[in-house]
Amino acid sequence: MKIQIINGPNLNLLGTREKSIYGESGFEPFLAELKSSYHSVDIQYFQSNIEGELINKLHEIGFSYDGIIFNAGAYTHTSLAIADAIAAINTPVIEVHISNVYSREEYRHKSMMAKNCKGIITGFGLHSYRLALESFL
Ligand code: DQA
Repeated sequence: MKIQIINGPNLNLLGTREKSIYGESGFEPFLAELKSSYHSVDIQYFQSNIEGELINKLHEIGFSYDGIIFNAGAYTHTSLAIADAIAAINTPVIEVHISNVYSREEYRHKSMMAKNCKGIITGFGLHSYRLALESFL
């Protein structure tokens, strides 16, 4: 099984950025742990702060992978282009968030991409990614 994790803008700063919301851990140590718990799954990781690069990655792997776990960061709430890219590909996408976006500012309650995703997991910290992976398995 091939799973792609995609992180969008500012998620390269996990472990440094707003720790009270996003936690103390960087993504890389968490990813290493995830890969070692799921040896049989081919887990690929991509992060970009650039909207077009996120779309290019969806196009590149969205016809051959079994699942995409996607935290689009703030683009979740704004990007019609990302929502359209998810609609255009075949691989199912799960929208994930580290924080519970529904307990935060109202502008985070709207997801442009949600209707094109298989489901949403929000508010479980980095564990949100693990839950998304479990759902593909
Ligand atoms: C986030 C929530 C978004 O509203 C925010 O812009 C992020 C991170 C999360 O994982 O909780 O960058 O996607």
